[in-house]
Amino acid sequence: MATIAVLGSGSWGTALALMADRMHHTVHLWSPFQEEVDSIRRFGEHRKLLPGVPVPPSVQLTTDESCVAQADAVILAVPSFAVAATAARIAGFLKEGTPVINVSKGLEENTFRRFTQVVGEALPTARVVALTGPSHAEEVARGVPTSIVCACEDVSAAERVQELLMNERFRIYVTDDVIGAELGGALKNVIALAAGICDGIGAGDNAKAALMTRGLAEMARLGTALGARAETFAGLSGMGDLIVTCGSMHSRNRRAGILIGSGRSPKDAVAEVGTVEGYFAAATAFKLAEHVGVDMPITEQCYRICYEEKAPSTALRDLMRRPMRHETEEVLWAK
Ligand SMILES: NC(=O)c1ccc[n+]([C@@H]2O[C@H](COP(=O)([O-])OP(=O)(O)OC[C@H]3O[C@@H](n4cnc5c(N)ncnc54)[C@H](O)[C@@H]3O)[C@@H](O)[C@H]2O)c1
Repeated sequence: MATIAVLGSGSWGTALALMADRMHHTVHLWSPFQEEVDSIRRFGEHRKLLPGVPVPPSVQLTTDESCVAQADAVILAVPSFAVAATAARIAGFLKEGTPVINVSKGLEENTFRRFTQVVGEALPTARVVALTGPSHAEEVARGVPTSIVCACEDVSAAERVQELLMNERFRIYVTDDVIGAELGGALKNVIALAAGICDGIGAGDNAKAALMTRGLAEMARLGTALGARAETFAGLSGMGDLIVTCGSMHSRNRRAGILIGSGRSPKDAVAEVGTVEGYFAAATAFKLAEHVGVDMPITEQCYRICYEEKAPSTALRDLMRRPMRHETEEVLWAK
C-alpha cells in the first residue's frame, strides 16, 4: 500500500481521496482553508460539495502541505487559478521522482500553458502526469464505475499512476498524447458552458447535438494545430468528457450555462454555481485560437457572451449564419 497526498479538498479532491482510501492507501487530504478541514471533520462529510458521502477518519485531513514529503504520489486537485501557486507551495517538501498527478482542467491565463507544463516548471524533479476524462466527483465518490486517462510523454510515469490508483470501479487508460488529453479536458469546459446556454434558451436537442459535435471538431482543430493527435479527441479525454459534461446536471459548467441562457448575467451565474472552469477557459481558449490562427466559432461565441454581453440568441443566430462549409476538414480526422 502507498501513501497518497491529495491537495484540494473540494469535490474532486475529496472523491479521489475516498477512492484511494477504499484501496487501503494511506491518504492525506489537504486544504488551504482551516474552516473547510474543520467542517469535514465535524460533519464526517463535505457537506457543501459532497453531501451524504461519508469521509471516514482514515482520511487524514490537514492544512499542512508538508504532508507531501511522505507521499508516494501527490494528486493536485485545486481550481485552475490555484495550480501554479499550489505547486510552488509544495516544492520544498517533495521527494525527487514523486509522481504528481494534476487533475485540474484548464490552461494558464496569458501564457496558454497546459498544467503539466506549469507544474513541471514548479516541480522540476517530479514526474508530472495529467489524469483526465469523464469523471463526475459525485459519482466517483460513490464508487460508480468510471474510466479515465492518465497522460504523460514518459509512459512509465503514467503506468505507475495506473498501478497505484486503478481498481475495479476506476479504470485508468494510459496515453503519451499529453497535449491532446489536457487540451480535451480544458476545451470541453467551454463547450459544456455553451451546451448549458443552449439548454437555457430552449434551443432543443438538434442544436445541442450539433453544438457538441461541432464543438469536438473545433477542439480537435486547435489541438492538432498545437501538436496533439486527432484520435485523442475521439477518446475519453475528448468525446468522453464532452458527453458527460454536456449532458449532466453534475456539471457546474453546464449549470452555469443554463443560468446564462435563462437570462442571468455570466458573472452572477458563475458566482452562484462556484468553480466554473469553462468561464475562464472561454477567454483563454479564444485568445489562444486567435494567436494560433485556428477557427473556433463556438468558443468565440461563448467568449462574446461571457465577456462582451452578447445575447445568447444572437450568438446562436450568428453560428447558424456562418458561411457554407464541408463537414470534414482534412486536418481533423484524415491523419
Ligand atoms: N468536480 C469534478 O467532478 C471534477 C472532475 C474532474 C476534474 N475536475 C477538476 O478539478 C479541479 C478542482 O475541481 P473541484 O470541482 O474539486 O473544485 P472545488 O471548487 O470543489 O474545490 C477546490 C478545492 O481546492 C482548494 N482550493 C480552493 N481555492 C484554493 C486556492 N486559492 N489555493 C489552493 N487550494 C485552493 C479547496 O480545498 C477547495 O475546496 C478543477 O480544475 C476541475 O476542472 C473536477
